[in-house]
Amino acid sequence: MKLRHVTSARQFDIKTLQDLFAFTDKIKSGKYNNKALSGKIMATLFYQPSTRTRFSFESAILKLGGSTISSENAAEFSSAIKGETMQDTIRIVDSYADVIVIRHPQSGITDLAASYSKVPVINAGDGVGEHPTQALLDLYTIFEKKKTKEFTIAICGDHAHYRPHHSLSYLLSLYPKIKIIYVSPKRLSMPKELREHLKKKKIHFVETEDFTSSIKEADVIYQGRIPKEYLGAQYKKYLGKFILDKRALSSIKKNAIIMHPLPRVNEITPDVDSDPRAIYFEEARNGLYVRMALLLSIL
Ligand code: CP
Repeated sequence: MKLRHVTSARQFDIKTLQDLFAFTDKIKSGKYNNKALSGKIMATLFYQPSTRTRFSFESAILKLGGSTISSENAAEFSSAIKGETMQDTIRIVDSYADVIVIRHPQSGITDLAASYSKVPVINAGDGVGEHPTQALLDLYTIFEKKKTKEFTIAICGDHAHYRPHHSLSYLLSLYPKIKIIYVSPKRLSMPKELREHLKKKKIHFVETEDFTSSIKEADVIYQGRIPKEYLGAQYKKYLGKFILDKRALSSIKKNAIIMHPLPRVNEITPDVDSDPRAIYFEEARNGLYVRMALLLSIL
């Protein structure tokens, strides 16, 4: 599959992932041309805050010899504040850049942007929709560590609103031997569309509120943030429901891995960080290599 726009994890197939991850391995081992994207410009339009996604995308293009033009607070510092539509913004920015990376609070907006853009558009998180490049780096990290496509993963937190869970689920659904345990309060269970997708793909999944048993069973524990920005007054009710702390470490598998897209609030306590199974900072570092591979593939 030739990659152009990346707006959803649903657009990937196994072969494309294999190629992308093999390419990422090469880049991670230092085998890349640091002038490969010389002359290429990446625009980052972020209407929501970010540390990892924006910095890793910007670092990725700089390491490959390209340049970046950026609006880190596009909601306030682009002409969106004057009422310019996304359609018009894209029809302007695509004349200045070779690829556009967008984070925005509105689900589905990167599909709209892609339909107006002359250059590739990458979804860096669209509201409660998706975060496909997060899922790519997550899956890359899981395969790198587990070296198998047959495992049980417990995904914990808010499946209704937390976009990394959606995109990761779509990628995992390509692999029939993976079992997914979705741990969440009932009110924060996954969107109907995702549940239907998993059923259609005959994926072995369960939905539960039992955090303790789920993390015991899991080979991969994937913690997620409870997203304050989408829960409003409900936020405090759910915060602290599923905390992985040092005490819990004695109950999980010896060869489990503990992941989190970050930023974390209190889902994983800092005393877990020194445990060899805690790999979330490595996971975030892999974001740089995966995004370098992605930019090279697209451009
Ligand atoms: N994981 C992630 O998307 O982090 P940022 O919000 O810091 O980009």
